[in-house]
Amino acid sequence: MNSLELFSLKNKVAIVTGALGLIGKNHCVALSEAGANVIVCDLDEIKCKEFASSLPTKSIGIGVDITNKSSVENLRDKTLKEFGK
Ligand SMILES: NC(=O)c1ccc[n+]([C@@H]2O[C@H](COP(=O)([O-])OP(=O)(O)OC[C@H]3O[C@@H](n4cnc5c(N)ncnc54)[C@H](O)[C@@H]3O)[C@@H](O)[C@H]2O)c1
Repeated sequence: MNSLELFSLKNKVAIVTGALGLIGKNHCVALSEAGANVIVCDLDEIKCKEFASSLPTKSIGIGVDITNKSSVENLRDKTLKEFGK
């Protein structure tokens, strides 16, 4: 078994905030390459969607301001609707 299989994130859902930043983008790529479905979250929803569509697993982009409660609740609701967990 290789390391990607051993540490596979298949069937996991990963929410990444600040996902369009230097660290966030690299996290998204690593999580997706390991098999996770990634929720790409940052302030600009259009750019989040564009970046999510470039990832190798089914991933979605959602505009989120993590300092705003209703925005985070919207993230939770869309994640549950799309991936069921
Ligand atoms: N880059 C490094 O080497 C490094 C090292 C240690 C710690 N850090 C820390 O890690 C964090 C991320 O670093 P980075 O280099 O990726 O920064 P970055 O500036 O490249 O990315 C931050 C991202 O967060 C987003 N963001 C800002 N406010 C937001 C909000 N309210 N809701 C949602 N998204 C928001 C920005 O739009 C941006 O895309 C920072 O706090 C930084 O200080 C970075």
